[in-house]
Amino acid sequence: AARRNPTFICQNCGAVTNRWQGKCESCGEWNTIVEETSALDRPVSGRPSRKGRVFALEPLTGETPNAPRLSSGIAELDRVTGGGFVRGSVLLLGGDPGIGKSTLLIQASAALARSGHRSVYVSGEEAVAQVRLRAERLGLASAPVELASETSVEDIIATLSEGQVPKLIIIDSIQTMWTDTVESAPGTVTQVRSSAQALIRFAKRCGAAVILVGHVTKDGQIAGPRVVEHMVDAVLSFEGEGSHQFRILRALKNRFGPTDEIGVFEMTGIGLREVANPSELFLSERNLGAPGTAVFAGMEGTRPVLVEMQALVAPSSLGTPRRAVVGWDPSRLSMLIAVLDAHCGVRLGQHDVYLNVAGGLRINEPAADLAAAAALVSSLAESPLPSEAVYFGEISLSGALRPVSHRPSRLREAGKLGFSAAFAPESARADPDSGGTVRVNVVSALHDLVATIA
Ligand code: TYD
Ligand code: MG
Repeated sequence: AARRNPTFICQNCGAVTNRWQGKCESCGEWNTIVEETSALDRPVSGRPSRKGRVFALEPLTGETPNAPRLSSGIAELDRVTGGGFVRGSVLLLGGDPGIGKSTLLIQASAALARSGHRSVYVSGEEAVAQVRLRAERLGLASAPVELASETSVEDIIATLSEGQVPKLIIIDSIQTMWTDTVESAPGTVTQVRSSAQALIRFAKRCGAAVILVGHVTKDGQIAGPRVVEHMVDAVLSFEGEGSHQFRILRALKNRFGPTDEIGVFEMTGIGLREVANPSELFLSERNLGAPGTAVFAGMEGTRPVLVEMQALVAPSSLGTPRRAVVGWDPSRLSMLIAVLDAHCGVRLGQHDVYLNVAGGLRINEPAADLAAAAALVSSLAESPLPSEAVYFGEISLSGALRPVSHRPSRLREAGKLGFSAAFAPESARADPDSGGTVRVNVVSALHDLVATIA
């Protein structure tokens, strides 16, 4: 056989180079480049080129049937997928090892199996006995899920092609799968990509919903599921802070639904419990009367979520003061510090600043600016904020507040949880009665708020 040229593939991002390098020029990760026998430049052998088939072109208008959905039986999961798994589609569930991916999916497959849908759970990581043991611990042992401990994609497809087509197929995890069609070792980018490709083709052909589990890892030896992300229909990420029991499910990509909804779970001794009212959960450990904390009335997709933002400001002993942020965008913090300095006379240049979003939630909304600023100023002044108030509003570089969307929902949620006041920008539109029991203190510029914090 002719000797193939070696190909070097970054195990993190999938970039291909023709020589080994310590650092991937594409994604910047170190020690991720591995030599692989390339599947890319191999000609498709034995298939003569043929004349193309003629197909009909369609107009822009026409019927768009709704994607056929399969409810997972777990409302928080359905919320994130956009109403359930889509038949013939492939979803990637990513997350750190140990975060609870297998637990979530055994619960989902058990719920589907119990409602009469054929569900197959293929584990490449655990023996059947281990999966059984977990199911038993979760009280799901009686659910008619069909289990296998297999890693050969060809064997899996051959097995699942027999008999009734499964409605749901779980592959846990894609990094453990391998296919005969490529020579690289399991776990390499080429194997992960080819295995995913075969499973995706199978899903489209048989109409099953296929879920691939992907471990996110910094370890360069194992291919990150990043290479699979652009191949699948949806990418969900399961996240959580090590010290918290809360788990947040988020859609990073979704061809069939929204990407801004989150699902909230709590990891308990008997599996993942759905949290239907996240605000209650995120506020359950509130430090009432402590300086440096402000409750942010936020939105996650269509759902309002109240969460505590915690700041700690202290004189720095370092030449360059420390800035540390958990759950929020560090560049937003830098901007806030600059605006507080330039427009409000609040000087944090010689202070270490720590900002934390309670409960392990990650906030992407600019509307959190006002709550973050309130927490910072409150910490600096060592003066607690009124405990019955919530804060929201986007701050511009001039220190002015911009109107935010979903103001009525935010105020209603605050009222429901017993808050009686809100510091918020003027509404873009008139919404006089929306707040209900919550009195709105209109903040039009950041220094107005700073002046109220002694
Ligand atoms: P797991 O679903 O195996 O994580 P992943 O598949 O993402 O690697 O979850 C593992 C962790 O969850 C492990 O630390 C134990 C914990 N756990 C519970 O706390 N309660 C439970 O009921 C189960 C099944 C797991
Ligand atoms: Mg697992």
